[in-house]
Amino acid sequence: MENFKLGFIGAGFIAHFQARALTQIRCVDLAGVYALNGQEDLAMFSRQHGIGECAIYDSVEELCKNVDAVCLFAPNFVRVELMEEIAAAAKEGAELKGIICEKPLGRTVAEAQRLVEIARGTGLPNAYFENQLHMKAVNAQRAQLGPLSETMGPLTLARCAEEHCGPHEPWFWDPTRQGGGVLADMGCHSIAVGWYVLTPMNEPVDFLKPVSMNATTALLKWGQPQYRKQLLEERGIDYAKIPAEDFTTGTVTFENPKTGQRSLGQFTNSWMYDKQGLRLLMDGLGPGYAFEMNTLRSPLEVFIGDQAAEAIADAETALEKATSTRGLLTVEPNEADLYGYVDEIEDAVKNFREGKDGFLNFEYGLEITKLVQAGYMSAEKGVTLDLADPAVQEELRGYTSLIAQGRGAEVLHVF
Ligand SMILES: NC(=O)c1ccc[n+]([C@@H]2O[C@H](COP(=O)([O-])OP(=O)(O)OC[C@H]3O[C@@H](n4cnc5c(N)ncnc54)[C@H](O)[C@@H]3O)[C@@H](O)[C@H]2O)c1
Repeated sequence: MENFKLGFIGAGFIAHFQARALTQIRCVDLAGVYALNGQEDLAMFSRQHGIGECAIYDSVEELCKNVDAVCLFAPNFVRVELMEEIAAAAKEGAELKGIICEKPLGRTVAEAQRLVEIARGTGLPNAYFENQLHMKAVNAQRAQLGPLSETMGPLTLARCAEEHCGPHEPWFWDPTRQGGGVLADMGCHSIAVGWYVLTPMNEPVDFLKPVSMNATTALLKWGQPQYRKQLLEERGIDYAKIPAEDFTTGTVTFENPKTGQRSLGQFTNSWMYDKQGLRLLMDGLGPGYAFEMNTLRSPLEVFIGDQAAEAIADAETALEKATSTRGLLTVEPNEADLYGYVDEIEDAVKNFREGKDGFLNFEYGLEITKLVQAGYMSAEKGVTLDLADPAVQEELRGYTSLIAQGRGAEVLHVF
């Protein structure tokens, strides 16, 4: 079997993480990249780690002509134009076997819908990359507890959180470019994985019907002078002008269409988690059984004293979004695998080779976008949204949150 050739659009944070995942995957090459910056570093990494020649291309079209599948790993605000270029390349004869898009599929429901239409217009299989559904720990607990849910009854509560101290690039903090704050950026993960862990085994990922959404968005850290100074001076971010939420929490109520039983998926996301670094915390509670996962509980800890800390080159080699270089520190030695990146690439390639969509497709990405936008609408209006109401769904189709419009000051209370 010939190696499957992946091409990356974008060579930033996620592209590098996915390249690290590729070092653990057989028969898949990083064959090429197109990006505005970072492409030389990515190509060097690829060659040094033996995961592919990673040729640097000057256009989406050239990249598409030289790979089997293309991965959209560029920022949210260039999704539609890049997807149009992929579709044009396919029309011009690029022999692609699939298209991959990172989360979130769109910044609004209309944008996500457009992505679905463009991708389907190509006739090619697609995969929406939501890594948390591919986490080995998430799927291991499903395998362990799935049989119990059949005899005892299903999980009725899932609580899923992803938190860290804030994103690395300024565009994430600009709600007009990113599509919002932490709810748009990380709420999509926690809403999706909550839905998934509540879903009975052997049922499709959209089996449970979301019936209501209640969410809160808040800007918690901006009120602190030190933090405000740091954001302004180091990152050029001015939330006095266009604020976005750095904290969100909410619940989605789901209904089992066969039994009528309801369950709750609670999500919590923040960019103000000033602890060791990225934490994914999930638990699920059923009748007489439960699971809990915390990615900061690693079997490996290291201790680094003050004197030795001066020698640290890069604290993030220990943990994504690491905030400190000394003391007793958590190390996650294989984050690319832990967070599900290895499994999501393997899944997409396997399915594309068979001419099929990945486990999660763009239509699923659209459903997640709808739930995220429903979260903004619920927080804005201060109500629980009835997602089964056709009028609410119609309103969501044309909705852009006030925060994403740059009008966050009208809805966000600064603490
Ligand atoms: N699954 C996850 O956990 C996860 C983590 C981080 C980011 N992401 C997603 O991945 C995407 C990229 O995020 P990132 O953190 O890598 O961003 P980044 O800013 O670190 O990197 C973006 C890359 O895209 C390139 N780029 C920008 N505009 C471009 C254009 N018009 N054409 C071609 N290349 C362009 C940049 O040059 C850069 O190489 C985002 O949608 C983000 O939400 C997902």
